[in-house]
Amino acid sequence: MNLFNVYPLYEITPAYGKMCYIYDKKGDRYLDLYGGHAVISIGHSHPNYVKYLSDQLSKIGFYSNYIVNDLQAEVAKQIINQSKCENYNLFMCNSGAEANENALQVASFHTNRSRVIAFKNSFHGRSNAALGITDNKKIKSKLNKLIDVTFLDFNDKKGFLNEISKNDVCAVIFESVQGVGGLDQPSTDFIKFMSELCKKHSTCVIADEVQSGFGRTGDFFAYQKHDIKPDIISMAKGMGKEFRDSKKDGGKATYKTKDGRTVKKGLYYYMNRAKKRGTSKPGKGSVTDKALKQSAKTAKKD
Ligand SMILES: Cc1ncc(COP(=O)(O)O)c(C=O)c1O
Repeated sequence: MNLFNVYPLYEITPAYGKMCYIYDKKGDRYLDLYGGHAVISIGHSHPNYVKYLSDQLSKIGFYSNYIVNDLQAEVAKQIINQSKCENYNLFMCNSGAEANENALQVASFHTNRSRVIAFKNSFHGRSNAALGITDNKKIKSKLNKLIDVTFLDFNDKKGFLNEISKNDVCAVIFESVQGVGGLDQPSTDFIKFMSELCKKHSTCVIADEVQSGFGRTGDFFAYQKHDIKPDIISMAKGMGKEFRDSKKDGGKATYKTKDGRTVKKGLYYYMNRAKKRGTSKPGKGSVTDKALKQSAKTAKKD
């Protein structure tokens, strides 16, 4: 049986990984700036991670949601400790797309409405409704196009006011940093404006933190720098660390370190995309900026 040809593939197969490095079958080492598409937030095969996972697997690997699972309650407690997000309920599923799919479902049940406001260049996953609210025609089927969505520009207050005032929007979903879209960010002024209007028009605010969350921007969730309280927060990637199906996206960028080595993929790839589109670059002090400086330091030491 052939593998379904979905993604453009990088010509490298990681055989194993150790903290910030991956190694291919020949033993060639790569500084992993890509992180399995932003999944590997704590480094490859971190000893604590390996220990906890191995211990658990030696006890029991899986059971269904129909049983009491103390570990889920412990995860909820830890997330509250880390994020300081009080008064949320945790629902666990399998991927970022599924998290968004469920978030939309809850918003639609809650408001009894179906239209969604999303933002241009957004990416929210590859399941049906998640693709529906993703702004990329190339990957959308007719089925996904049945989702009732309006795409707006970030910071377009006039457009937002016009749409939200129709009182038929169940949810506004936004990424604080558009990872796949190319690092665009909405302004705090706009996010606060949006959040206030959503309250007024009984619309749910969904913060998609699948890529930007779990400490990736310094705050536990990237939206926290805007000082708002979303109704629903979706998360994945860094949350699952290596224990998930990570995915790859297109692009062929390589990054030359100062000592002349070629490092494949990584944040540079996203920067490149942003630059190509002539839009935002990672700002001074941004995650990308810091990560690149850190990786340059590591490469130098190495
Ligand atoms: C912002 C955002 N939301 C959702 C998703 C989908 O997550 P998953 O690949 O876990 O389904 C992604 C994946 O890149 C993402 O970047």
